[in-house]
Amino acid sequence: MTLPVRIAPSILSADFARLGEEVRAISAAGADWIHVDVMDGHFVPNITIGPAVVKALRPHSDLPFDVHLMISPVDLYLEAFAEAGADILTVHPESGPHLHRTIQRIKALGKKAGVSLNPASPVELVAEVLGDIDLILVMSVNPGFGGQSFITSQLKKIERLRRMIDDSGRQIHLEVDGGVDAGNAATVIAAGADVLVAGTASFKGGAAQYAANIAALKGH
Ligand code: DX5
Ligand code: ZN
Repeated sequence: MTLPVRIAPSILSADFARLGEEVRAISAAGADWIHVDVMDGHFVPNITIGPAVVKALRPHSDLPFDVHLMISPVDLYLEAFAEAGADILTVHPESGPHLHRTIQRIKALGKKAGVSLNPASPVELVAEVLGDIDLILVMSVNPGFGGQSFITSQLKKIERLRRMIDDSGRQIHLEVDGGVDAGNAATVIAAGADVLVAGTASFKGGAAQYAANIAALKGH
């Protein structure tokens, strides 16, 4: 069963000099989750934000913080992000040697656990942990930067994962991240996604546009 559609604006596309204000504005504009892209300059070719920033932003929104960890090694930092106020911690299988152990650590911290698949990563990487996770994140761009184009080959992967999730009988979010905009959102949802990450498409045009941007992503 597909869950109601949620929009998770990526603050990577917000004005970093005014992040608290931006998180308040996008929350008021109808966002469902706040997507936080954490990059280390090693697992991906960009460096963004760490737990101190997540902690500083936490009082600015009541929405779930959906923290996408593009860092390796990842295990060392799970506790810091959990304590900083993350609600969902999503990891890439390639960022550590023992995915199952990493998921168990996230659960032990009382947080929801997500697994993210890069464009070249096969769905089989999550097959044996479906019983343990709350979310699968399909990367529809190569991770590292906002503003890239949606890789259409990922639609088939989203469809395959939707079938795997439905067959599992569990309620697992299927989230899609990268190049999602008002023009392709309906296609991504039709393929089986229930959470759309959108950076550029959420934050374009300044705060006066945010509510319209989010409504457009929801098809309104
Ligand atoms: C890329 C990040 C994405 C990115 C999305 O590595 O994981 O969350 O910020 O940005 P847009 O929506 O602009 O493609
Ligand atoms: Zn992301």
